[in-house]
Amino acid sequence: MLKVGLVGYGKMGHMLKNLSNEFNIEIVSIIDPTNEEANYKEINENSISNCDVLIDFSTPNGVINNIKRAVKQNIPIVVGTTGWLDSLNEITEYVELNNGALIYGSNFSIGVNILFQIVNFSSELFNKIPGYDVAGSEIHHRMKKDIPSGTGKTLAEIVLNNYDTKEEIVYQPGNREIKKEELHFTSLRLGEIPGLHEVTFDSKDDQLSIKHNAKGREGFAKGALMAAKYIYDKKGVIDFVSNFSEIIEEVNNEN
Ligand SMILES: NC(=O)c1ccc[n+]([C@@H]2O[C@H](COP(=O)([O-])OP(=O)(O)OC[C@H]3O[C@@H](n4cnc5c(N)ncnc54)[C@H](OP(=O)(O)O)[C@@H]3O)[C@@H](O)[C@H]2O)c1
Repeated sequence: MLKVGLVGYGKMGHMLKNLSNEFNIEIVSIIDPTNEEANYKEINENSISNCDVLIDFSTPNGVINNIKRAVKQNIPIVVGTTGWLDSLNEITEYVELNNGALIYGSNFSIGVNILFQIVNFSSELFNKIPGYDVAGSEIHHRMKKDIPSGTGKTLAEIVLNNYDTKEEIVYQPGNREIKKEELHFTSLRLGEIPGLHEVTFDSKDDQLSIKHNAKGREGFAKGALMAAKYIYDKKGVIDFVSNFSEIIEEVNNEN
């Protein structure tokens, strides 16, 4: 059985714990600064020494330090926490220099990773046809700490990479018009919504919307548990989204 340490025991941490048996994974350590059910308050030699892999669903503020500690102790880490990718270059250098292993993803759910592939395909096609504008949106629960969502950013970047007429992504334009060459991507925070993402293509003739609606947090947790099984014998920095098909295939073949 793979021995996993959970870093961050909030909504996602609890979901991972609940589903771990189903994936033949044993949770041997729970690390969280404030949750009373956690075994440890921080990552240190003691709290992660018996873990094969760590899974981090904590906060953008703490995650960089968590990754560095895991790498220092030679333990592969799965990072689901979003809002830290501005530091990706620095972290990649650190992981490679220290021969560590990190897998990260703005979204670990199966449906969203297929959404990424569909949006990539459709924006590549619409780009070839004059007259189609494009925009996107995301809605999440009120407690979410980053805005826009990591998944929203990934979606917007996929569209931007494919659309010749769009030059930059605008998340919060303020009180002004959106220019033709700007890709508008909006965020809303509302109630308890686990995650809703949508990309819409619009012309004078018709409109196509592609939408993913998470029904809960289980889907994210399942993907992260699969990522833990995949990373434990690997090295380097792996983007879950770009390697999605290969990861799913390898983990499913093992089971
Ligand atoms: N990639 C995906 O598929 C995916 C899916 C869902 C969520 N997420 C992301 O995952 C993260 C966590 O989401 P959540 O809904 O579980 O949030 P949450 O309920 O707020 O849980 C986060 C927990 O981590 C704790 N924490 C803070 N700093 C820590 C540190 N340095 N080490 C260990 N634990 C620490 C927090 O304690 P305090 O409350 O005291 O700060 C809190 O208990 C967010 O960034 C979210 O956007 C990603």
